[in-house]
Amino acid sequence: MVGVIIIAVVITAISAAIAFGASRGSFKGVGDALQTTNRTGSRLLNSGLVFVYVGIGIALPLVLIIGNRNSSNAQVGGVKLSPAMQVGRELFAEHCGVCHTLAADNAVGKIGPNLDVLRPSEARILHTIAYGCLQKPVAAGSPATCLGYGVMPADIVQGQQAKDIAEFVSKVAGHS
Ligand code: HEC
Repeated sequence: MVGVIIIAVVITAISAAIAFGASRGSFKGVGDALQTTNRTGSRLLNSGLVFVYVGIGIALPLVLIIGNRNSSNAQVGGVKLSPAMQVGRELFAEHCGVCHTLAADNAVGKIGPNLDVLRPSEARILHTIAYGCLQKPVAAGSPATCLGYGVMPADIVQGQQAKDIAEFVSKVAGHS
């Protein structure tokens, strides 16, 4: 984002300098080639240059910025994100990413289990958020359950926020 803006500013400045130089005839060769003999011609040439540098310097980066924002927010790993899931994504980064790995949110926490591997259901995530997590020892093969009062604190988020996170994580875990 910042990079795109810097590029936009640089390109605009260079184009403006070239347009200015050409209209003043200071680049000998370029000026000669571009300069026309009558006034209408040079006016046309100037407005053409303005059009080109506005187009390249402003319109193109704008299109890139808007395009980028849409595509990066609307889906990850082929999973389309609903508005609620986009909220869940932000909340996950804020509240869960420090402890959990989830590639779809660029989270690399190592304290809790890797959610891309675990791929928990929405219900299991909601239960974990509400009660916290201390894994109950279970028979091999059956899914682990969280008992609460463990290493993962309970109630980090509540209500709609918890639902948005649970929906997001259950849909994107393992995709990226
Ligand atoms: C302070 C670190 C920490 C934070 C913050 C944290 N977790 Fe955890 N989480 C853990 C640990 C540790 C475990 C595993 C506990 C265990 O094995 O006893 C865990 C377990 C889980 C599990 C597995 C549950 C199961 O059934 O095995 C899920 C799902 C989960 N966390 C989701 C989340 C979500 C969603 C958030 C954000 C709201 C979050 N965690 C925030 C540390 C954290």
